[in-house]
Amino acid sequence: MNPLPMGMLILLIMMHGTFQTLYDNSIGNNIVISGDSHANWATDLIWLDEHAYDPTTGNGSIGVEFAGTAVSSPSPYGQNISLATANEASDLLVQYNRELQWSELYYRGYFELQISHELVEANYFGMPTIVNRNPDEISLANFTVLSGANALQRNPSPGGGIVENGALKLGKTVQTNSTNDTATGIYFISNDPVEDL
Ligand SMILES: *[C@@H]1O[C@H](CO)[C@@H](O)[C@H](O)[C@H]1NC(C)=O
Ligand SMILES: *[C@@H]1O[C@H](CO)[C@@H](O)[C@H](O)[C@H]1NC(C)=O
Ligand SMILES: *[C@@H]1O[C@H](CO)[C@@H](O)[C@H](O)[C@H]1NC(C)=O
Ligand SMILES: *[C@@H]1O[C@H](CO)[C@@H](O)[C@H](O)[C@H]1NC(C)=O
Ligand SMILES: *[C@@H]1O[C@H](CO)[C@@H](O)[C@H](O)[C@H]1NC(C)=O
Repeated sequence: MNPLPMGMLILLIMMHGTFQTLYDNSIGNNIVISGDSHANWATDLIWLDEHAYDPTTGNGSIGVEFAGTAVSSPSPYGQNISLATANEASDLLVQYNRELQWSELYYRGYFELQISHELVEANYFGMPTIVNRNPDEISLANFTVLSGANALQRNPSPGGGIVENGALKLGKTVQTNSTNDTATGIYFISNDPVEDL
C-alpha cells in the first residue's frame, strides 16, 4: 500500500476539521478558491460519504469550489496535450466524481470572480496559444452561485448549460473558438493547433 504523502494527509485532516465545523454549525455561503492543479474546475463543496448529496440539484452541498488553471505551466495531463485527449480525460473526471460539475484540462488561463450581496459569478478564460506573446483569450465558462444556495446554479444549469471546452455534468460543450483580441476588442475565430509547449 502506498502511504499518503504528508502534505496530502495534512490537507485531508484540515478538510475533515473544516467540513465538521461548517456542517455542525450550518455555516453557508462558502466559496473555496483553488489552484495548483494546473486545471480548470468548478464543483459543489460536499463532505462525501458523510452527508447525502444530489449532483443533479446540488442538495446537500455547503458551498462551491472554483479552481483556476495555470497561466503558463502545462496541463497536468501532459505537455503538448491535444484538445481531444484533454477533453476525453475531463469526461472521465466528471463521470467518476459526483460533485465535479465542470472539468477543463486543455487551456492555460485565469478566472475572475464578481462578488455581490446577491450572487457570485465566475468567468473563466483560456488563451488559444501561449507559444507566442499575444493578447488573445477565449471565454471558457461562466458559473453563478446565488446567495444562500450553497451550490452551483442549476435551471439553467451551470453557464446556461453550455461551456466552450472540457466536460460539463449537467450541460454540453460547444466549441466556437470565438476569441477576443483584447488589444482591440475585436473577435475572431482562432484555430491554434498547439496551445502549449
Ligand atoms: C435535501 O436533502 C435533505 C436531507 O438529505 C432532505 O431532507 C430534503 O428533503 C432534500 N431537499 C430536496 C429539495 O430534495
Ligand atoms: C512538446 O513539443 C515541443 C516542441 O515540439 C518539444 O520540444 C517537447 O519535447 C514536447 N514535450 C513533450 C512532453 O512531448
Ligand atoms: C460568459 O459570459 C460573457 C458575458 O456575458 C459572454 O460574453 C460569454 O460568451 C460567456 N461565455 C460562455 C462560454 O458562455
Ligand atoms: C474583449 O476585450 C476588450 C478589450 O480588452 C474588453 O473591453 C471586453 O470587455 C472583452 N470582452 C469580453 C466579453 O470580455
Ligand atoms: C478549435 O480550435 C482547435 C485548435 O485549438 C481545433 O482542434 C478545433 O477543431 C477547433 N474547433 C472549431 C469548432 O473550430
